[in-house]
Amino acid sequence: MSRILIKHAEIITMNKDEEIINADILIENDKIKAIGTDLKETGDEKVIDATERLVIPGFIQTHIHLCQTIFRGKGDDLELMDWLKKRIWPLEAAHDEESIYYSALLGIGELIQSGTTTIVDMETVHHTDYAFKAIAKSGIRALSGKVMMDKGEEVPPQLQEKTSESIEKSVALMEKWNNFDNGRIKYAFSPRFVVSCTEELLKEVSRLSKSYQVYVHTHASENKGEIEIVERETGMRNIEYLDYLGLANERLILAHCIWLNEKEKTIIKEKGVHVSHCPGSNLKLASGIAEVPHLLEQSISVSLGADGAPCNNNLDMFNEMRLAALIQKPSHGSTTMDAKTVFRMATINGAKAIGMEDQIGSIEVGKKADLAILNLNDFHTYPSFDVDPISRIVYSATRADVVTTIINGEIVMENRVIKTMEKKVILHEANASIKRLIKKIPLLS
Ligand code: GUN
Ligand code: FE
Repeated sequence: MSRILIKHAEIITMNKDEEIINADILIENDKIKAIGTDLKETGDEKVIDATERLVIPGFIQTHIHLCQTIFRGKGDDLELMDWLKKRIWPLEAAHDEESIYYSALLGIGELIQSGTTTIVDMETVHHTDYAFKAIAKSGIRALSGKVMMDKGEEVPPQLQEKTSESIEKSVALMEKWNNFDNGRIKYAFSPRFVVSCTEELLKEVSRLSKSYQVYVHTHASENKGEIEIVERETGMRNIEYLDYLGLANERLILAHCIWLNEKEKTIIKEKGVHVSHCPGSNLKLASGIAEVPHLLEQSISVSLGADGAPCNNNLDMFNEMRLAALIQKPSHGSTTMDAKTVFRMATINGAKAIGMEDQIGSIEVGKKADLAILNLNDFHTYPSFDVDPISRIVYSATRADVVTTIINGEIVMENRVIKTMEKKVILHEANASIKRLIKKIPLLS
């Protein structure tokens, strides 16, 4: 049995009363066993002195593409459809098993270093087994799945799938990886977006999601051009179409949701669909600004994600929290999207989005031990006297302030050193991988 005792911490619990307390935390195996003042050492546990440290629930990012991490810097200054057709699809088409593996580890290394403990990840068409192997090795908690795309213009031949093949491969991956390592890893069916998928495929995904009770993770209403294509092809608005297919329910995570009309917002609200807001990506791809204050007012489930490295270009929740707060203020006023609202989106709302709010998203006895320890004793985060700790985290702190990250009761980073992978090797292999991929693409090399 493994035991970790974190002593003298200031804990941002994010429990129902959103209490902030000074206490010790005892972790036994994968769970938080006790929280209390002066928990006694027994001699058989690892002790972490958290004096003058903040302990927060690990961040939950509900939209990530690990397979795109090695494309960082390769898709700058383009809008969505050009970004996909000219850069991302050719690069994904060139992927091999090794490049998928190291792209995932590169991304996870960055995520763990910046305090993210759970992700909802979308892979590419092929080699997804290798992303799951990287996820398994790294210790991160993840819902992931192979992307599905059986339709579309200017799609490289390697990414064009037959409907039946896409479904068979997805089901095989689900059977292998769903609930791996006691549920740390879960499968999510991942049709890319309506533009890339036939009605037949989407209907089958809807049926499979229901029969296996597995999540569906897709992009929706990110870009004006995208929703015009959907409307032209289906005669429906994007979200209406997803609802018509039977996909609009509490197992659906939609990245972006910028271009929604009132009827679509009502569908999202009434069917319990989850929205993943990705402000960094939305600004960089010039997609627009999601109406998050309005969605939250209607009690719609909204959480946060960095999206992929080539449209951000980081996977850093501190960045996303800051942007989520700031981009709304000029049009909605200074009091909108306050620090606590945004911090909630980064933690407990993410847990709700993946149906795991009884297991993660807050620091409470009985929950999984997924947390990050921060050191805010620095120039950029001082003074601390009489300043709301959540304000310090959302508006002043940076990823470099994360000292230690624990996932599922395992210390995956300690004093900024990642324990589950070798950084030097990952950086070297990431470079070698992108070099190999680019050589295969005449226009990019
Ligand atoms: N829409 C379809 N595919 C993608 C993708 O890979 N990234 C983003 N941001 N939007 C998409
Ligand atoms: Fe995305």
